[in-house]
Amino acid sequence: MKAIILSGGKGTRLRPLTYTGAKQLVPVANKPILWYGIEAIVAAGVTDIGIIISPETGEEVKTKTGNGDRFGAKITYILQDKPAGLAHAVKVAQPFLGDSPFVMYLGDNLVQSELDLFLESFRAKNLDALTLLCPVANPSAFGVAKVDEEGRVLQLVEKPKDPPSNLALVGIYLFSNVIHHAISCIQPSPRGELEITDAIQYLIDQQKKVEAYQLKGWWLDTGKKDDLLEANRIILDTCLNSAMLGEVDEKSQVIGRVQIGPRSKVVNCTIRGPVTIGSDCYLENCFVGPYSSVADQVTLIDADLEHSVILQGAKVVGIQQRIVDSVIGQRAHLKVAPQRPKALRFLIGDDCQIELA
Ligand code: G1P
Repeated sequence: MKAIILSGGKGTRLRPLTYTGAKQLVPVANKPILWYGIEAIVAAGVTDIGIIISPETGEEVKTKTGNGDRFGAKITYILQDKPAGLAHAVKVAQPFLGDSPFVMYLGDNLVQSELDLFLESFRAKNLDALTLLCPVANPSAFGVAKVDEEGRVLQLVEKPKDPPSNLALVGIYLFSNVIHHAISCIQPSPRGELEITDAIQYLIDQQKKVEAYQLKGWWLDTGKKDDLLEANRIILDTCLNSAMLGEVDEKSQVIGRVQIGPRSKVVNCTIRGPVTIGSDCYLENCFVGPYSSVADQVTLIDADLEHSVILQGAKVVGIQQRIVDSVIGQRAHLKVAPQRPKALRFLIGDDCQIELA
């Protein structure tokens, strides 16, 4: 069994963060989203992993993620030269995959369930495809499945205007090698992409063994800001352990599960977990409330925040109002003068959203 993780795409729904980096490297609880996928695959016993990268962000993904040693895996990087669809990515990965059955994992997906049960079932039943489904409120934004009472997939449609059910296709699939033939038989969709959804539909039409499992726990497709905040909340809630590697002065109060990275300094602050703070940060006169992740080299002075994600190297100074539900990009600076400000002065990147609520 091998695995491929798709880590290309333009990440348009996470702009402006994705102008400067891959959406799969945006951190959730200070760890790139992509790494959760790698860890889940390794935990299920699959260690031969191909990561599909794009020309735009591939180098960054490679540099940050490495050859797999840190995960106990062997990672091969595979370049998809254009974003021509998920099935196109499988085509590009075929020399790596050979005839092996494989897990296909979309690098911006996070699931609560462990993958080994699905793998076991796929093997035991000798399936050609196993898909995972999850009920959602907005099925038109996904691939959607119609299933019968035994969980057999009757029909799959990509982003239907008129969805046949509320069961979305989760971005984790298991395939036998027959998927390659299916992909060679399909045509690009109206959005110009070779859709994996259409390739699975082809398998169904050919009476191949395709099954779907409904996920029990949560599933997050972290493609948008609110999903990212929700993923951050859930991961902090369920996975964070306290660790105090930095320096906290005696005027500060640290309550609940809080992680503070090496060389970070906390002066006269209240930090109420779950909160993770990276390394080399400086925090003074701040309140950092639940469900916040502060990446490395961040400076927070006279600031008050909760349920927010602050990325590497950002600086927030003198903001009296509480910052909530916010994502602040790498190296962004937010500063308010100590006296009542008379003017607002901005240099705001494309597609930013600023709300003085
Ligand atoms: C892709 C798939 C879709 C699936 C979704 C899950 O959509 O095409 O069927 O439901 O991933 O994340 P995309 O994110 O490319 O729009």
